[in-house]
Formats: sequence, C-alpha cells, structure tokens
Amino acid sequence: DGYGEDWEFKLSLNSSVELGGRVHRSSFPLGFVFGSAGAAYQYEGAVDEDGRGPSIWDDFVRHPGHVKGNATGDTAVDQYHRFEEDIQILKDLNLDAYRFSISWSRILAVGRGHINWAGVAYYNRFINELIRQGIEPYVTLYHWDLPLALEATGGWLDPDIVSAYTEFATLCFDVFGDRVKYWMTFNEPHLFAKNGYENGIYAPGRCSAPFGHCASGDSIAEPLIVVHNVLNAHALAVSIYRKEFRDLQKGFIGLVLDGMWFTPCRKTQEDQDAAQRANEYWTGWILDPIYLGDYPASMRKYGVKLPTFTKEQSELLKNSVDFLGWNHYTSFFATYDKHSLENNDVSWSALEWFHIYPSGMRDSLSWLRERYGNPPVYITENGFATNTNDEPWSSEHVQDYDRIKYHHDYMQSLLLAIRDGSDARGYFTWSFLDNFEWGEGYQTRFGFYQVDIGRSLERRAKASAIWLTHVLSKETS
Ligand code: NOJ
Repeated sequence: DGYGEDWEFKLSLNSSVELGGRVHRSSFPLGFVFGSAGAAYQYEGAVDEDGRGPSIWDDFVRHPGHVKGNATGDTAVDQYHRFEEDIQILKDLNLDAYRFSISWSRILAVGRGHINWAGVAYYNRFINELIRQGIEPYVTLYHWDLPLALEATGGWLDPDIVSAYTEFATLCFDVFGDRVKYWMTFNEPHLFAKNGYENGIYAPGRCSAPFGHCASGDSIAEPLIVVHNVLNAHALAVSIYRKEFRDLQKGFIGLVLDGMWFTPCRKTQEDQDAAQRANEYWTGWILDPIYLGDYPASMRKYGVKLPTFTKEQSELLKNSVDFLGWNHYTSFFATYDKHSLENNDVSWSALEWFHIYPSGMRDSLSWLRERYGNPPVYITENGFATNTNDEPWSSEHVQDYDRIKYHHDYMQSLLLAIRDGSDARGYFTWSFLDNFEWGEGYQTRFGFYQVDIGRSLERRAKASAIWLTHVLSKETS
C-alpha cells in the first residue's frame, strides 16, 4: 500500500527506546486488550435530541472565547447518528475494545429523578452493536459533562453531589451491566478539578484569576473540595457495585487518572525530591486515598489545606478499584529551582502541555508498581496531537508519520514496563477519530481517522490507521 516501508524507515531513523523494530500485538501477553477511547461530549453531538438535558459543557461553550474558534460539541462527529459506521471502523482497525462515556444528562436530563428512557435506548443500541461486532465495551461514567441542573445547586462543590452521582451510577449498572463488564467511575478527576476550578479553562469555568471569563471562585480551595467529593462519590459507587451487582454481573470497576509523569530535570537529589513531590501532588492526590485511604503526607506537610476523610470514608476508599485506568501522554521535568529547561532534548506535539517522552510510560508504571503494589493497569488513553492546519481535508490519506512514531515508541516503552513486571492489561489509543478537543475545539486532532468536521463529517483513514491495522492484525507475520 506504499506506507509500510516508509514508516519503517522513519522509525529506524530515531527510535528512542531499547527494543527497536516493529511493534505487533503478538509481542504482548495473551489476552492483552487493544482499544480506542472516546467520550460523550467529544463524539456524540445530538445535544438536544430525544430528551437529553443540557450539561455544563453545553453551557460553557456558549460563552464566546471559552473554546478556540467558539466551537461547540453540538454536532461533534455526530456519533449519535453514525455509530454503526464508527463501530465498523473500530472493527476494521482490528481493535478489541472501545472505551466511551455515558452522557449523564442524556439518561437523567436534570441529573436525578425522572429517567429518560430514549437516552437509555440509545446506549443499548450502541452497546449491542459493539457486542455484535465482537468489541468489548469499557464504560466511563463521568467524563466531565455534569448535568447543568446539578451545577445550579452547587455541582461538585456540594457534598450532596455524592448521592446524585451514585443514583446515576446505579442506574447505569442496572440497565447496562448485563453487557458492560468494565466500568470506570471518573475520567481524570484532578484535571477537571484544576481546569474547571483553578484556572477556569474547562467547564464550569470557575477561578479567581483575572482570565476574563471566569465565574468568581476560590482557586486554592475549590479544586481540593471537588476532588474530595469526587473521591467519596467514586468510593460509594464502587461499594454499591460490589455489593449489589458484581456477583450477578461479574464485572470490574476502576477509575481513570491523568497519568502525567514528572521526571527529575537533573540528577541532583533536590531535583529528584522535586519530581517525587510533583508525582505525589499529581497522582498521589487521587491514588493515595484510593489505595492507602488518605491524601499524601507531603501534601499536608507543605501546607495544602486538604479536607479530611471520616474513618468510614477512608475505609470505603481503601482498595476501591479493581483496576486502574492510566491516561498517559507526556512527562514534565521537575526541578527544585526554576532554572532554564531549554536544553532538554525532547520534541513536542502540537499542544503546549505535551512533549514526547516515551520512557515516561515505563517509568510511570514502575512508580505505580512500587507505590501501590502493582495494580492491574489499563493504558486507557495514549495519543498524539497535531494541528488541524497540518492535516487539511483532502482525497489523499494524511501522512501522519509523527503520530505513527509516537504510538510505536510508547507501545515499545509499555512492553518494557511489562517486561519489568508491571501488570499492564490493555492499551487504548486516543482516539480512533478526530473529535472535539475541549478548549482547543477542532483545532487540534488526535485521530487515526480524519473527519470532515463541520461539513460532510465523512471519516477517512490516515496513514496511522493503516499502520495500526497492521500492528493489531491477528495474523503473525
Ligand atoms: C484526556 C481526556 O480524557 C480526553 O477527553 C482528551 O481529549 C485527551 N486527554 C486529549 O487531550
């Protein structure tokens, strides 16, 4: 097909990890799952169809300046109407699984109470089609789209959100759990807490910094309160699942983290300590409560005003996951002082938070293994951002070799982690299609397939899709 030799040549030029060579599904352990991930607001569209209520993102995008190009997810990639075609694409890519989220306000329009059965019916059709095509559904319950009606009563800042969330979660277990065996309670809790409440760049856009569009908030205290309520909601939902559903449904439940990795900038002890602290503040903030029952001591020691768990909450939290979802894209260099980081030899993707550092995959998994007793981990997202301008819609396949190289190197690093002894069970790409990238709107693309956004919405394979199809082919070459 003309792509094979070219990408192999490019990879051999500067593959940055030890194993080198081609990556193929047969190098991974038996039963290892390859999937792709998406989320309701980024994919579905159909925001006011069949009784769906509005979410905080429907509201947030309406304010000019919140999203690049004032883009919205009103149509997104219209998966609501095109899911059969999309599931066929997943199949064509040789994927085993699809991770997607349920829009809370599609099935409970105002967040609790009255059930919108038309919304439930949509997810039933979706799940049934996945299963018909032999693709395992992995379901995220909360991927950032809180029903607007719940925001009006305090949203994640109000401890009552815990009971609203568990009502939603219980409904999902009840109506979908006969077919869904992998549940994730939350996607990247501390990212939506920080971006929604500290710097205000995500819904609900609260912060105290003078960014112009923020509703007033307390940027220091609010993210801590939000994460606290999220953790309690997570723990309660897990205990309900385990008590009331697991025996019958025989599924697993976990949570997905933003697995950003901090590595020391220099080999000095001070920089190593800085990296350790950064990892504790970033990942430990969520995972220490979940595995160990409380926030990291370092966070309290440095004066962060964290809320306190009661004894019951802490007990409920301990070991409240069957598996961990790890969204890993990038690493940061941690340093004790603020000396220049210019000399680091790394390359960048199109997003400013995101540089390419494949060994961060292996190193972050080592940290999880050592700190939390080697939990079962799924890489629930890993993906490469490009600028829309660099991938114009055309009749040619987009030649996204940088994306191919990125996935190749990160998969190789994951293999090294498995060789080290990490209990990694799956790898999900972000994402099989281009889609709505939150504050970036449609100006950033992650897809293996291009989508003719805002126009025909046609899907078209990029070079990376052809590469992935080969990597995941079940025939050994
Ligand atoms: C993580 C989030 O879960 C997802 O929604 C987002 O699109 C990707 N990162 C890329 O930024």
